[in-house]
Amino acid sequence: MMVRTMDEQKKVSRRRFLAIGGTTLGASVLACAGLGYVGTRPSGEVTFAESNCGKGEQMNGRVLVAYASRAGSTGEVAQAVADVLCQQGFEVDVRKVNDVRDVSGYRAVVVGSAARMGKLYGETGRFVNKHRKALAVIPTAYFFSGFMMNEDTPENRATAGKLLEPLVAARQPVSVGLFGGSLKYANLEPLFRWVFSMAKEGMPEGDWRDWDAIRAWSGELAPLL
Ligand SMILES: Cc1cc2nc3c(=O)[nH]c(=O)nc-3n(C[C@H](O)[C@H](O)[C@H](O)COP(=O)(O)O)c2cc1C
Repeated sequence: MMVRTMDEQKKVSRRRFLAIGGTTLGASVLACAGLGYVGTRPSGEVTFAESNCGKGEQMNGRVLVAYASRAGSTGEVAQAVADVLCQQGFEVDVRKVNDVRDVSGYRAVVVGSAARMGKLYGETGRFVNKHRKALAVIPTAYFFSGFMMNEDTPENRATAGKLLEPLVAARQPVSVGLFGGSLKYANLEPLFRWVFSMAKEGMPEGDWRDWDAIRAWSGELAPLL
């Protein structure tokens, strides 16, 4: 196994960002060439989690776990959070943020997102802002899943925490969960899949979601909701 020093790891992260920058530049050029519409639609293979548990059977009331995702993996994190809450006796709905019209009927809301190019997926902030009045009187928690947290260090926590600042400014959360992400070329939009497969070294495939940490956070969240 290859062991990297901290300096080397920093260089790798910088290289990743450069690679993403190159990726986006390449994607933009292609988009300008008229291929953008087809190339930036989600892969047809990807499924986005949507579920309900315990409808009408549980005692603790309904919780919404709403998430933003491009390639499906944040939905799987949302589902894992929901599974734990369900086991704790809550009724739980899992939805993409864009599929939620109204949050006022929920007893609590958990909002999750990944990021691209150093920013949370835009619909996450729009969701929290749009529903900020209703969220103000409902316990609200946030989670992030992305490569910035592939290593759980204080520095990475600080960087990922900054991404969530617009959400925190709109509604103070009862808890924040920060987790690694997942990257599978096959699940990317065709344009990104093509560009990334050309520059594999910049952003290697892998799954850094720590399911034990995700479940542990969800368990600690339950009494706060
Ligand atoms: C083009 C591109 C840019 C990315 N930029 C970032 C980033 O700036 N920060 C980060 O933490 N993760 C970044 N990632 C990694 C994703 O956030 C990570 O793979 C996440 O788990 C994907 O979630 P999703 O499958 O729900 O879309 C990027 C991924 C891609 C494909």
